[in-house]
Amino acid sequence: MRKYHPKQEEETVMKKIVVLTGAGISAESGMATFRGAGGLWNNYPVEQVATPEGYRRNPGLVIRFYNELRRQLQDIQPNGAHLMLAELERRCGGNMTVVTQNVDDLHERAGSRHVIHLHGELLKVTSSRDPNNPACIRTLKPGEYEVKMGDRAADGSQLRPFIVWFGEPVPLIEQAIEEASRADIFIIIGTSLAVYPAAGLLQYVPAGAEVYLIDPEEVAVPSGRPVRFIRKGATEGMKELMNLLTAQKICS
Ligand code: APR
Repeated sequence: MRKYHPKQEEETVMKKIVVLTGAGISAESGMATFRGAGGLWNNYPVEQVATPEGYRRNPGLVIRFYNELRRQLQDIQPNGAHLMLAELERRCGGNMTVVTQNVDDLHERAGSRHVIHLHGELLKVTSSRDPNNPACIRTLKPGEYEVKMGDRAADGSQLRPFIVWFGEPVPLIEQAIEEASRADIFIIIGTSLAVYPAAGLLQYVPAGAEVYLIDPEEVAVPSGRPVRFIRKGATEGMKELMNLLTAQKICS
């Protein structure tokens, strides 16, 4: 869609931008990624801390694991890539959505306003009995970041992290598909594209849309769809992409 902005001398091309982010974008802030060298799953077996079965077997261990992640989150800040995405959203007049697999709040702290957290949010807790019951989901206040065994949700069950574990439904995927299917530009940053349904979002992106992928490592793109690969870390990659979009007068 092309819109003319009377205040600007040149015509700006207003496009819908959808961004899919993964652990790699937060790595530059100091959050560990999941896979690869130094990945969280090397030290904490995924089946123990990120499955409903693991939680049933040892809820205390799982609660402590997410307490620790929540503690780490307090010591880190959004990085240049998060900030540039927020800037891009402002330049687009808000016509942009970030779909993130990350459970941290760094996109929000950087200023992004339209963020879909596919895999939940570290700063939220919910019911163990009925995790997607909106009446039981709440945001922790800074003094409450340490969840304990015995802390109760609104329905009386043990309070658990509001995290989508492996094997659980991903309630926000429909909303993310809806966004992806309206994208003119789709940007992928810092995800191994190893986990579905997030990795499948690309198949809903219209054929005519441009797709960019920022990652310092080779990433296998599931649909085999052509992508413009920027093989750099998130911040350096975003700088390059901002220059490309500015040169094309997209959202400038
Ligand atoms: N900048 C950009 N990307 C980076 C950087 C960086 N500085 N450092 C690493 N990466 C890339 C890696 O090369 C890799 O492709 O980030 C990606 C991280 O991949 P994963 O660790 O698999 O993380 P992610 O894709 O987000 O995992 C998806 O899996 O374990 C679950 O629920 C968890 O949301 C998570 C999901």
